[in-house]
Amino acid sequence: MKDLLGLEGFSANQILRFLDAAEELSALRSSPPQLLSGRFAALLFAEPSTRTLSSFWMAVQALGGQALPLALQGSSVLKGETLLDTCRNLQAVGFDLLIIRQGTAGALGPVAEALEASVVNAGDGQGEHPTQALLDLFTLRRHKGAVGPTPLEGLKVVLLGDIHHSRVARSNAWGLKALGARAVFCGPPDLVPRELARLGAEVTWDIAEALQDADAVNVLRLQRERHLENLAPSPRDYFAAYGLTRERLALAKPDCIVLHPGPLNREVEIASEVADGPRSVILEQVSNGVAVRMAVLSRLSQRHELAVS
Ligand code: CP
Repeated sequence: MKDLLGLEGFSANQILRFLDAAEELSALRSSPPQLLSGRFAALLFAEPSTRTLSSFWMAVQALGGQALPLALQGSSVLKGETLLDTCRNLQAVGFDLLIIRQGTAGALGPVAEALEASVVNAGDGQGEHPTQALLDLFTLRRHKGAVGPTPLEGLKVVLLGDIHHSRVARSNAWGLKALGARAVFCGPPDLVPRELARLGAEVTWDIAEALQDADAVNVLRLQRERHLENLAPSPRDYFAAYGLTRERLALAKPDCIVLHPGPLNREVEIASEVADGPRSVILEQVSNGVAVRMAVLSRLSQRHELAVS
């Protein structure tokens, strides 16, 4: 495996190899294997990030590699250089891992194809965010998983919010389907068009129906910065119609867990008392993100080791 660009087309086995490796690395957190010793990772981010950037940085360092965080706005892309040329230059400098967040879905495919260096998608516009979905699946499996080849079989997992603009929803849908879960997309009709059912999820605009007997709810942010078509309702109207409140959460199973990839907007898509409440695993997701990203980087480094042996 050279690159990780998305989860579309991944089998349960492929996903479980990442999750199992993340469990092993999580257990070794105080003295992880130095699999990236002598390796250099460039963290190229064209959009803001707190969790993905910092946890990839932490994962590279923990595995003995060196990481350079580089805002694409602070790179020569601003002077007209293409993303591919920037990446070719970083490869020429000696970076063999390129972890990239940028605004256009699918733009990393040609970059990965043209390079020897490994490319990891850290979020591409409305495309995919594979490491976020892997850490969501990891967290779900820890709380709800059964032993076996499809550990989330039969679980009802609701993705609630702005699905249309969400790369997290897309990657989660592929991963949940592969692991046997029942994914349900819910939000206002403009942000959850029926055609999203092609991702393998059920679609409903009725929040009560969606939450009924849910095992987990993954709440997604209203991405106002991507609402070019003026689709977004006001934050107050959105919260009234689709915000996850304690009363609404009561419709789900008593042990239903609440996830959110962040950044979260309190009292817009989620009530503070739910975000900080006993069912919330939001900060656990963030911690799990380091082990999951270590697992991804380990797999890519194995590719390098195999290639030279
Ligand atoms: N979940 C996520 O991608 O968060 P950041 O934008 O902070 O990286």
